[in-house]
Amino acid sequence: MTSQARRKKVAWGITGAGHYLTESFDLFVQFKDTFGVEVSITTFVSRAAEEVARVYGLFHYLQTISPGDYMEEVILESAQGWSYPKTGRFSRGNYDALFISPTTSNTVAKIAYGIADSLITNAVAHAIKGGIPVFLVPVDIEGRIESPVPYFINRDICVGCERCQEACPHDAINEQIDYLKCTGCGLCKDICDYNAIQGGQVMLVVRDIDKQNVKRLRKMERITVLDDPSQLERALRNVLTEEAG
Ligand SMILES: Cc1cc2nc3c(=O)[nH]c(=O)nc-3n(C[C@H](O)[C@H](O)[C@H](O)COP(=O)(O)O)c2cc1C
Repeated sequence: MTSQARRKKVAWGITGAGHYLTESFDLFVQFKDTFGVEVSITTFVSRAAEEVARVYGLFHYLQTISPGDYMEEVILESAQGWSYPKTGRFSRGNYDALFISPTTSNTVAKIAYGIADSLITNAVAHAIKGGIPVFLVPVDIEGRIESPVPYFINRDICVGCERCQEACPHDAINEQIDYLKCTGCGLCKDICDYNAIQGGQVMLVVRDIDKQNVKRLRKMERITVLDDPSQLERALRNVLTEEAG
């Protein structure tokens, strides 16, 4: 980068998917760590993403990626009104690119049909109108996917000793784990002598409707569908090398 080069501005939108969530966080943490001098990152977080990121113990990383200065904020949907004024930045062409990763099937469906009633779908609509390229990593593209699940209590193993309940610093366990309180810290798992607190993977089949919606996205102007987070890394690096348009 030459000393005259403009600092690039990237927007990252996160929706409430467990699938590809850790991979997306890993990428942005690494990208910020490596290229933080050349690029600022604003993070836009859907209400569902806020909950899901906490459950997977990832939420606190957002401070590293978007430390809070102008164009480096964490913008929470839960702290916005219903007209999402912050997305006006996209109409004004303030960003070089918008990346949505992971993108839930819910958000894919809305974008595919032009709906813009949430922070992330509104950001996409404004970005397209403002001439900003949008890159999306949908979680449900086709076939079968293996998705991570947050901690849960395996009732076949649990003996009801309640040690996990007593140990939880967030008061998140009362017979079940309350995912609105859980932060994914794993203390309950560590304290359980019976290995009854488990996480893991589930195998899911992608619905036809989700497949069709991703196909619609691929045909939309200014949208690039990325098939997995490894493609996201390349697209992010490309933003750094592109001349201002
Ligand atoms: C722990 C957890 C994991 C989830 N993972 C996914 C997922 O991988 N893919 C998906 O499409 N929805 C997933 N959901 C459901 C979405 O969060 C839900 O559809 C939500 O309404 C999406 O809102 P958003 O698209 O505005 O973020 C998950 C929900 C929870 C609680």
